[in-house]
Amino acid sequence: MGSGSSLSPGPRMIPVGGGKGGVGKSFVVANLAVVLARSGRRVIAVDGDLEGANLHTCLGVPEPRNSLADFVAYREDELEKLLVDTPIPNLQFIAATHGNLATPQPSHSRRVQMLRALRRLPADFLLFDLGAGTHSAVMDYFMIGEEGLVVIAPEPTSVENAYSFIRAAFYRRLRLAMVSHDMRKVVALAMDQHNERGIRTPLDLLHEIEASDPHEGRRFIETMKSFRPRIVINDAMTAEDVKLGFSIQTVCRKYFGIESDYLGYINHDENARQAVRERRPLVDRYPRSDAAIYISRIAKKLAAESDFART
Ligand SMILES: Nc1ncnc2c1ncn2[C@@H]1O[C@H](COP(=O)(O)OP(=O)(O)O)[C@@H](O)[C@H]1O
Ligand SMILES: [Mg+2]
Repeated sequence: MGSGSSLSPGPRMIPVGGGKGGVGKSFVVANLAVVLARSGRRVIAVDGDLEGANLHTCLGVPEPRNSLADFVAYREDELEKLLVDTPIPNLQFIAATHGNLATPQPSHSRRVQMLRALRRLPADFLLFDLGAGTHSAVMDYFMIGEEGLVVIAPEPTSVENAYSFIRAAFYRRLRLAMVSHDMRKVVALAMDQHNERGIRTPLDLLHEIEASDPHEGRRFIETMKSFRPRIVINDAMTAEDVKLGFSIQTVCRKYFGIESDYLGYINHDENARQAVRERRPLVDRYPRSDAAIYISRIAKKLAAESDFART
């Protein structure tokens, strides 16, 4: 990743979103972070949920006094100073507590500064826990890295929100990638599901853009290829739930023209709830539980990709 310095390439940036609240994003971030740190990687977990910060609880860290909210409010400019140690070696944390309820989200320019500062933090992995919804700030956070995770629970509401989330993330990327003012306008129009031009899917939009501006059409395809969300099904109870990841992949390909990876699933496990209640990461408190084993499997996949990239 281009951080300017050849000495430190910067952390692998992994934003974790999903559109819906309560599907297990913070739970997944906390436990992936712990597994990766335990395997010897330097990990920073960042709570990016400025309106519902609770990653500290999933990690078992007392509510820190300083947080990302201080950066948002221009009280602190150095993200390093917001890093707190956790009981787990190699794992540091930036909280999002004590935000300003009136203006929880940073301005666009502050967001850009934040993302630049995050890339300079000293770590191998930076996991970024996103809030719910598809607010432009959330979509910008999802763009901090090419390998964003979308956490989905096997229920229709979560699946619907995941599609909206993936669509919103893609359109936001696309709008930034388009050079021509006219084509940006077409993308903005397409973001309204009921637009009168009848553009319903990213593929409709591609055809529209290709027809009027082949150069931008090519840029569209490049953006499409570089966007590759990664699916995690959490709270799976049946074989059908496990298969859901594959059907979401198919829908993304067929209707959006977007390729995605199904990274894995995590079982429904009562120990998960219990660990949160005890304010301990599941993988530490109940390392032999089903959910802990499946989370470790996903972490291994992520770590193996880094090893592969390094050789
Ligand atoms: N695999 C699972 N099995 C059982 N309960 C889970 C599982 N994953 C998450 N939970 C429960 O769901 C709650 C909400 O998860 P959380 O990570 O806070 O969601 P989000 O960050 O998406 O809003 C957790 O506190 C935990 O009790
Ligand atoms: Mg959360």
